[in-house]
Amino acid sequence: MDLTIPVLGQPKVRSPLKLSSESGDLVPDFVHDDDRLLFDVSAKNLREALCKNPDVLPLSFERAGPREFLYFDPSKTRVGVVTCGGLCPGINNVIRALVMELHYHYGVRRIYGFRFGFAGLSPEAGYDVIDLTPEEVNDIHHDGGSILGSSRGPVSAEVMVDTLDRLGMNILFVIGGDGTLRGALDMYQEISKRGMRISIVGIPKTIDNDICLVEKTFGFETAFSIAIEAIRAAHVEAKGSPNGIGMVRLMGRNSGYIAATAALAEPNVDCVLVPEIPFKLEGERGFYTWLQGMLKERGYAVIVVAEGAGQELMAKAEKEQCDASGNVRLADIGLFLKDSIAAELKRKGIVYNLKYIDPSYLIRSAPANPNDSLFCLSLGQNAAHAGMSGKTGMVVGIWNNGLTHVPIREAVAQRKVVDPESDLWRSVMDSTRQPARWE
Ligand code: F6P
Repeated sequence: MDLTIPVLGQPKVRSPLKLSSESGDLVPDFVHDDDRLLFDVSAKNLREALCKNPDVLPLSFERAGPREFLYFDPSKTRVGVVTCGGLCPGINNVIRALVMELHYHYGVRRIYGFRFGFAGLSPEAGYDVIDLTPEEVNDIHHDGGSILGSSRGPVSAEVMVDTLDRLGMNILFVIGGDGTLRGALDMYQEISKRGMRISIVGIPKTIDNDICLVEKTFGFETAFSIAIEAIRAAHVEAKGSPNGIGMVRLMGRNSGYIAATAALAEPNVDCVLVPEIPFKLEGERGFYTWLQGMLKERGYAVIVVAEGAGQELMAKAEKEQCDASGNVRLADIGLFLKDSIAAELKRKGIVYNLKYIDPSYLIRSAPANPNDSLFCLSLGQNAAHAGMSGKTGMVVGIWNNGLTHVPIREAVAQRKVVDPESDLWRSVMDSTRQPARWE
């Protein structure tokens, strides 16, 4: 893995930020490029690595933050912002933070928003760009969604870079998930190929929290916080009737973080089904047997299922199409389970009462909660610092609570998924009544 961050060139413009280069003077400091945060913070591993090779710093991230010298002269800098993919709590907070930092602290006066995702960078779509001023963005963090709108689907890197070139853009901030960041990587490569000096800085956005080398994405915490309302409701409903079953379906296409974390934050959940851990319905160690055991033993059950779970159980024909982002359209595991449970319990002559809740879009369209708002603010501010100092081909991430720069190439190299051997999943096992393995 190579965590080196590309730069457009030597930063030579002194930053207008009133910060210090010395510690102890009660003024916050600039961050130097050699200030790095370790990838692996285990003291044992660090000792071993240094014993093996004392001259080589173990794998580490560049620390995010304001640099003393900038690549771009703020008075002549033009900035674009684009938001792509599915909505997510906190997008507006990030836009606001970017605009406020660039305008008030760097003095950048030309900040533009591209409408409806990458389509906004294609002349074919014909969308006007929006002027992003402090007045325009002042109150936007109160609302969910994105003031710029969003869309799925790629636009060719050549076309997008032509647009950036035509508009004289110096920095493009790309707020989006895995597919979007791949598009941003293509743009970065196209820009490098043409020898242009445009910085591409990403801010990872996905409630699924599935971006590699990024501990948490914004909106994720809001997502599981709202999800617990649905779980509470499912629990109340399940408890309120004989053989009650409360089932909540949550987002999580390839990664079950929302489901797992929500089930820990509201621990009245008996079973969490995630894409990472296959399960079967039939058999002694199957889901039906488990469910009947729960109903017999306790009289009710609460189940949380992530949208990507159990895809192998459903007919292939249902799920072969892709959405505009190229994601395979998933079959609906929630509805499938609801119907399958109904059929199975009916077959067994068990009277039950199943309540099914799918809060997916209610969650995704919500405004950011206070903790996510803080996080979005830091991400926006640090993305602005990175772009102004000429960093490119990177996203702003977080690792062991420190804000980092991560090469886009590494962030999209694979998807982050729940590790069945992790502390997180062990905690789910401890908290629920489900078996460690279904087969
Ligand atoms: O952005 C990620 C996500 O929320 C996934 O959890 C989900 O599969 C997908 O978006 C659904 O998005 P849409 O309904 O816009 O296709």
